[in-house]
Amino acid sequence: MAAPAGCRRDGWVANRFTAGIATTPIDIRPAVLDDLPRIFAIYNREVEGGVATFDIESREPGRDDEWLTARAPYHPVTVAVADGKVVGWASIGPWSPRGAYRRTGEVSVYVDPVSRGAGIGRALLADLVGRARSLPEIHVLLARIAQPNPASVTVHEAVGFRSFGVQRRCGEKLGRILDVELFDLHLDEV
Ligand SMILES: CC(C)(COP(=O)(O)OP(=O)(O)OC[C@H]1O[C@@H](n2cnc3c(N)ncnc32)[C@H](O)[C@@H]1OP(=O)(O)O)[C@@H](O)C(=O)NCCC(=O)NCCS
Repeated sequence: MAAPAGCRRDGWVANRFTAGIATTPIDIRPAVLDDLPRIFAIYNREVEGGVATFDIESREPGRDDEWLTARAPYHPVTVAVADGKVVGWASIGPWSPRGAYRRTGEVSVYVDPVSRGAGIGRALLADLVGRARSLPEIHVLLARIAQPNPASVTVHEAVGFRSFGVQRRCGEKLGRILDVELFDLHLDEV
């Protein structure tokens, strides 16, 4: 995978990657409203049939647009686009609504199943960490990864996240009791 292009403080520009085995370049850019049907379609697969998210309610374009439009400017959403189609997305969201936690953002990353294993998840996360470095409000990134999820652990560790513990048996979905492994990345330390 080519190294991510530099991310400028004033930028929010598209970064271009040649991801893994993909033959077409992948552009990563901030999400816009028109991307929501694809973002939600990719996400809802995991809401309805997976345990990567503990959400159990699907999101709908139109009804749930505020997920994108009402975000704080320091909570970006990005999309990976190949051949004009959104094939994955990543975001930084609030870790907690309590004000003192504002310096910590929780990351999410989701790739369309047909596009997985080509480096897109890693590219999305590397780009997102680069963008986070230009956000004065955000100092710590956090990821909660329901276990087991080796692909997610691999991509988070590849961009600098480190495990700091496991919340045992805290979730229950699709008939499974789930552990969640916690990872963080301290932007001012690495
Ligand atoms: C996690 C996810 C975003 C990764 O996206 P992706 O585009 O497939 O990731 P990449 O291709 O960049 O990298 C995947 C890495 O995981 C590795 N991997 C995949 N399956 C693996 C397994 N079973 N065991 C070990 N490593 C595995 C791959 O080898 C690759 O590492 P490498 O580049 O060093 O070879 C994607 O699988 C996904 O959307 N999963 C469902 C949603 C999800 O789990 N999101 C994260 C929530 S915490």
